[in-house]
Amino acid sequence: MDSKTPDIDAPILFFDSGVGGLSVLAEAQKHLPKAPVIYVSDSAAFPYGTKSEKEIATRVPVLLGKLAERFHPRLITIACNTASTIALDSVRQVLDIPIVGTVPAVKPAAEMTKTGVIGLLGTEATVRQPYIDVLAQKFAKDAVLLRHGSAELAPAAEAMMRGEQVDAQIYARAMHGLLEQPRGDEIDIVILGCTHFPLIEKQLADHATTSVQFVHGGAGIARRIAYLTHGQKWPENALGGHFVTTGDLAGVKPYEKALAHYGLAQFSAL
Ligand code: DGL
Repeated sequence: MDSKTPDIDAPILFFDSGVGGLSVLAEAQKHLPKAPVIYVSDSAAFPYGTKSEKEIATRVPVLLGKLAERFHPRLITIACNTASTIALDSVRQVLDIPIVGTVPAVKPAAEMTKTGVIGLLGTEATVRQPYIDVLAQKFAKDAVLLRHGSAELAPAAEAMMRGEQVDAQIYARAMHGLLEQPRGDEIDIVILGCTHFPLIEKQLADHATTSVQFVHGGAGIARRIAYLTHGQKWPENALGGHFVTTGDLAGVKPYEKALAHYGLAQFSAL
C-alpha cells in the first residue's frame, strides 16, 4: 500500500454553502454507492451568491483546510459554483488531496445548442466571474452566452428542501430575467449554474415562457469523481452518510426528511 492509497473508510467530502450540493451528491452516488459520504453545508455563511469575492476567497480555503484535518477525506468535491469559480485554485494550492470543482456546464451546453444562444442562470457572484468569460471563450466561442444572476433561487431551493411553501413568482422572475433579455427568446439551452437549481428544475421549467432544455454539471462531476477514485477500495456495506453544518444543529431538523433521500442520516455541527 503506497502513501497515496486512501484508508478504506476515508470519505468523499461534498461541500456547499447549503444543500445545493445534494444535486451533485445524487449523481456521484449512482457511480459510487458504497462511498462513505461527509456532506458539509456552510449554513452559517449561506448564501454565498450575494457575498463579495473577497469574503468567499477568504472563507472557503480556510474552512476546507479545517474540514480536511477533521475528516481526512480521500477527495473533496466543492459542490458549489460560486465557491469553485472564485476559490478553486487557492483551495488546490493549500490542500494535498484531489479537489473536484463545480463550474457551469458551458461546454455541454455549447455542444447541445441549435440556436447558438445559451442562457446561464447562476448566483449573482457566479455570473460576474471572469472564469465564466474563460469558459465561454474556450468552449462556446461561436455561441452567445446570456447570463442572469438570481439572489432568490438558492434560498427558495433551501425553503423547498425544508418542506416550506415557496412563492412561485420567484421562479417566474428568474426565468424572465434570463429569457426577456435581448435575444433571450432564442435561448434553447439553459445552464443551471448553481448546484441548488437542479433541485428546483421542474419549478423553473414550469415558468419558462419558451421551450428550453436545462443542463447542469452534476453527471460530469460524478464521472470525474469516479475516475479519480478508480481502483480504490470501499467499505463492503455502505455506511450512512454524515451531514455536517457550520450553523446550528437545530437548524438541520427541518431538512432531515429530505436528507434521508440522499442517505444522510447522521447530523452534527462543526
Ligand atoms: N449552491 C451554490 C452554487 O452552486 C451557491 C448558493 C448560494 O449560497 O448562494 O453556486
